[in-house]
Amino acid sequence: MSATDDDALLDLDHRTGWPADLRVLLERYPREVWEEHPNLGDLSRFWLGRHDMFRELNTGLLSAADQLKAGTVPAEAFRTWFVPRIQFFLRELHGHHMIEDHNYFPMLTATEPRLARGFEVLEGDHEMIHTGLLSLQEAGNGLLQALAGPKDRVQYAADGMSDALSGFLKSLHRHLGDEEDLIIPILLDRGEGALGH
Ligand SMILES: [Fe+2]
Ligand SMILES: [Fe+2]
Repeated sequence: MSATDDDALLDLDHRTGWPADLRVLLERYPREVWEEHPNLGDLSRFWLGRHDMFRELNTGLLSAADQLKAGTVPAEAFRTWFVPRIQFFLRELHGHHMIEDHNYFPMLTATEPRLARGFEVLEGDHEMIHTGLLSLQEAGNGLLQALAGPKDRVQYAADGMSDALSGFLKSLHRHLGDEEDLIIPILLDRGEGALGH
């Protein structure tokens, strides 16, 4: 297999986890041991908590969009609930990626150069996710405009938002899970000093 084929298999829409060469530490520190490991410190727990928050928020936004689509929630109640949460989601996720790209990934790559390719893949994910965030933003603006208009326009915009959020959720789950599988084993092996703490 050529490097290009291999890279394509590792992009966010195609991969189904890490290949063997990027699982060297994960084999030694599988998920089952994380919770009890003495090196799982406050920073790691905080970071895992942020990931859980992003998963829950995406799921909550999707369920709200589906309720609007099904007509089980009034448009105005939906808008009041949805707007601050999607804005928070977009802003926080963007900030989270900035810290990872500029701080965590370079430090972790220097700590464990064998996993450098994994961090390049994760950075590529961030770019794809950023494009997804822009589409969500656009779908959000379209939906807000539609809420003030006729019912069929609301239906069309709600369908678009539901599709955008469910596609995004799938990519986000893949990214967060793989990121944890790459990073937590390094932190358990070396301690949180690997993140400059
Ligand atoms: Fe990330
Ligand atoms: Fe992350």
